[in-house]
This record gives sequence, structure tokens and C-alpha cells, in this order.
Amino acid sequence: MRRGLDIVRMVAERLCYRARTYAIFRDDPNGQRGALDAAIQSYDAARPPPADVASLFRRHAGRWGALVMLGRLRRAGAILLVQTDGAELVAYGWLQPWHCVRREFGFLSHEGVCLGPYWTNPAWRGRGVYGRMLGHSLAMCRERFGETPLYIWARSENVASVRGIERAGFAPVGTFRVVTALAGLVRYHVRCASTAGA
Ligand SMILES: CC(C)(COP(=O)(O)OP(=O)(O)OC[C@H]1O[C@@H](n2cnc3c(N)ncnc32)[C@H](O)[C@@H]1OP(=O)(O)O)[C@@H](O)C(=O)NCCC(=O)NCCS
Repeated sequence: MRRGLDIVRMVAERLCYRARTYAIFRDDPNGQRGALDAAIQSYDAARPPPADVASLFRRHAGRWGALVMLGRLRRAGAILLVQTDGAELVAYGWLQPWHCVRREFGFLSHEGVCLGPYWTNPAWRGRGVYGRMLGHSLAMCRERFGETPLYIWARSENVASVRGIERAGFAPVGTFRVVTALAGLVRYHVRCASTAGA
């Protein structure tokens, strides 16, 4: 019930008015290249998650939440990265084509790949899982997308995520307040005064 309300709230917010402050980063062409991690599986529209992995997502996000989430694979052409441990979902993350985020973040670039969102199971947090997931994402994007710019962002108050992104070697673009309203018809962004990397 609460998950259902969250989804309704999220959709309403997207359609009406959404204002968030993000710390935005991009890959550093001269920085870390990342490393593929054998523990991380990747899925896409051509290779969807097997039934056992899909069922872990249903347990994590509920039936509708999982449907919406995994729908991204076919609907948006996104890539899903997943780490499991037996019957436990350890972590996941998304590599999204630029058209998925252009409405809010198109001001950053005409092209790119959006890394995220990511999630680590609370029982596994603080053990470097996110760091390895980001390293894997970097290496995989280089393999699949060459030198296309990679962007990643986190709500500026999300200390764990911002720290993980910095540790993975991404370069700060800045901190921006991003506003969209009326289903994206109105949109603007403002660079914040105390800007990371300004
Ligand atoms: C953000 C998140 C993915 C981090 O996952 P994690 O696997 O615990 O992260 P890691 O263990 O790889 O830690 C990465 C860095 O962040 C630091 N960190 C982790 N949790 C932290 C916290 N609560 N406060 C401050 N720093 C934190 C770690 O110390 C590490 O830095 P270090 O190498 O200098 O020690 C996880 O907290 C999460 O799933 N949060 C909810 C969903 C979310 O916010 N996703 C991010 C938005 S895309």
C-alpha cells in the first residue's frame, strides 16, 4: 500500500512540479577506467533477468515496483547491473541512454550515458559494494559506448552516494538545482553558489 502511494506521489511530482538539488559528476577522460567485476551480472532487453533475479526484485520493490523498474530494460533500452548472493539481492545499478534523462539533464550535454540510480542492500552497505559497482559501470561503458561522456549525480545531501562517486574518480561538474514542471513543459536549472568543482 505504502509502495503504491510512493509510486503515485512520484508520478504526480513528475507531472506537476519537481525541484531537486544534485551534485553532478562526469567521467574523467584522464582518470580511472574502472574494472569489470565477475560478481556483477548485466541484463538488457536482449538478455532480461532470469526468473530468480526478477523474483528478488519483486521482493525488493513489490510487484508493481519491479514491473516499472524492469520495464526500463525494454521501454528505455537501459542496462541493469545486479549483484546477488544466493537468495539475496546485494546491489543493483542502471546504465541509462541519454534520452531517458534529457528532459531534466539535457543542459549538461547533447549526448551521454546516465549512470544510476544505484542501490546497495542495507546489510551490505559500507563494504565497498557501490565502489565496485561504479568501477564495473565505468569499464563496461568504455567497452560498449567508447568515449561517450558518462554522467552521474546524487541528491547533494546523499553523503554516501556523493562520497562513493568521488572515490570512484568522477570529476565534479557542479551542484545544480533542477526544476521541472507541467510534465517537463517548464524546466530550468540554477547552479548553486557552493558548487562542487565550480
Ligand atoms: C549510496 C549507496 C549506494 C552506497 O552504497 P555502499 O555499498 O554502502 O557504498 P560503499 O561501501 O562502496 O562506500 C562508498 C564510499 O562512501 C562512503 N560511505 C558509505 N556510506 C556512508 C555514509 N552513510 N556516510 C558517509 N560516507 C559513507 C564509504 O565510506 C566509501 O568511502 P571510503 O571509500 O572513502 O570509505 C547506499 O547507501 C544506498 O543504496 N543508498 C540508498 C539508495 C541511494 O541513495 N542510491 C544513490 C543514489 S543513485
